[in-house]
Amino acid sequence: MKKLRSQEWYGRRDRDGFVYRSWMKKEGYPHDLFDGRPIIGICNTWSELTPCNSHFRDIADWVKRGVWEMGGVPLEFPVMSLGETQLRPAAMLFRNLASMDVEESIRGNPMDGVVLLMGCDKTTPSLLMGAASCDLPTIGLSGGPMLSGKFQGHDLGSGTGVWQMDAKVRSGEMKIDEFFEAESCMHRSKGHCMTMGTASTMASMVESLGMSLPGNAAIPAVDARRYTLAQMTGRRIVEMVREDLRMSQILTRAAFENSIRANAAIGGSTNALIHSIALAGRVGVQLNLDDWERLGSGLPCLVNLQPSGQYLMEDFYYAGGVPAVLRELGEAQVLERDALTVNGKSIWENVREAPCWNRDVIRTFAQPFKPTGGVAVLRGNLAPDGAVIKLSAASPHLLQHRGRAVVFENIEDFHARINDESLDIDENCVMVLKNCGPRGYPGMSEVGNMPLPPKVLRKGVTDMVRISDARMSGTAYGTVILHACPEAAAGGPLALVRSGDMISLDVPKRRLTLEVDDNTLAARRAEWKAPPLPERGWERLYVKHVMQADKGADLDFLVGHSGAPVGRDSH
Ligand code: FES
Repeated sequence: MKKLRSQEWYGRRDRDGFVYRSWMKKEGYPHDLFDGRPIIGICNTWSELTPCNSHFRDIADWVKRGVWEMGGVPLEFPVMSLGETQLRPAAMLFRNLASMDVEESIRGNPMDGVVLLMGCDKTTPSLLMGAASCDLPTIGLSGGPMLSGKFQGHDLGSGTGVWQMDAKVRSGEMKIDEFFEAESCMHRSKGHCMTMGTASTMASMVESLGMSLPGNAAIPAVDARRYTLAQMTGRRIVEMVREDLRMSQILTRAAFENSIRANAAIGGSTNALIHSIALAGRVGVQLNLDDWERLGSGLPCLVNLQPSGQYLMEDFYYAGGVPAVLRELGEAQVLERDALTVNGKSIWENVREAPCWNRDVIRTFAQPFKPTGGVAVLRGNLAPDGAVIKLSAASPHLLQHRGRAVVFENIEDFHARINDESLDIDENCVMVLKNCGPRGYPGMSEVGNMPLPPKVLRKGVTDMVRISDARMSGTAYGTVILHACPEAAAGGPLALVRSGDMISLDVPKRRLTLEVDDNTLAARRAEWKAPPLPERGWERLYVKHVMQADKGADLDFLVGHSGAPVGRDSH
């Protein structure tokens, strides 16, 4: 085995070697731990302000067992943790900042391999992106979903249940106290959201990219097998260091193509699209919206999970999880079977005999849950650089629709007017929300699934066409067109829409059209003013450098990778 990177710190017989070792010895480590054995960083997003990751210190202990067993030395380190439900104005505003923390923490410290502990939505892409820019041997370990929510004798899914019950409260079908009672019933164990929301989607992406051991995505957080997987992950990362199996060997174009197809098959979140394009950018794989359209939009949805379907992640695990889905894709010849995974085997070797124990939860390719599961990419004069819609979560009768725009200039305007009974809106209108994109919010918040006005809900209508430059929670549903590019705050055509304009949507033809002539749009553009830059700090840096959603909303200067070398000592 070639000399390990950590020996540039600990293998020295000079003053600096003394410094590097001596300050570590005060933690109690004996001298022989610095003799050249693999140093494994455990990159931990534990935080009590990230409730989905609050069990990660326990998980880290089990990773450490595996590392010690194989003759490595585990060193746990914290990075910025992004709690989706707690952080304002949007956890996404900080995804790239957290990725910088991860990248520099890995590069600057004496480690030979890394285990990434990921769970809540943005903690997965931020860790993958940061680690990818360093390209050490790296393995992902998700924290696992919560147990199923239970309320009034029924399953209750994270997020999805909130949107459903909120609509009932607003239409008068449910009492507010009953709604609040559900708070303790929805989330009753450690773990991340247990619908096929963004966290479960991203965990499934990690697995289908080959970046984790098989089975990583679905094992519940409190199931003993989650801890077994953690120990196995600890064992494996030491082997990966000895094999010098790096992230760039796993994250190939074939791996990304597999993850796009898997996203369609699981009915995954639209957020995966942004994160995967950003991650691909870090490793030099050219990935764009057209890849998502070409590879995923024609595939069926196999998995009957909320928000597209009925079940929850616990059911998904018992039914066979991601391996059973990937086996279906492989047998249907839509899997890059030779893609390498972190256990050193191809993805097909890992899943070709994966069993399915419940065909109501995981359907076959021949008899899918829904005929289309992927993300469709729409273009037209309203979104010249693309907008997306999650097909499995949309209402079939609205996929071709023409309606009068009801425009909200920003999220405050929306909140101020949506419950106003005098608002001129009905179920045939198209709701338009501006200034919620990467620059506009800033941070591209998950507000694209605008709640419907009460007077429409009272008619029993549960879906309307909605368009914005925002994202939506992976737990959300509806005929919701997201990520319109360029965004309104960047001067995209969305900024020019006015209430009363006609908008036509044709998903089968992938068209989204604002029926306003070019001269009128040019006159409106002449009146448009760009919003001012934030005055200071991270928001200013972010708004100046964030790219649009079709480019993954990474910062322009973070694209690519620099490897892990650091030439200079600290003293
Ligand atoms: Fe953390 Fe849903 S809020 S995963």
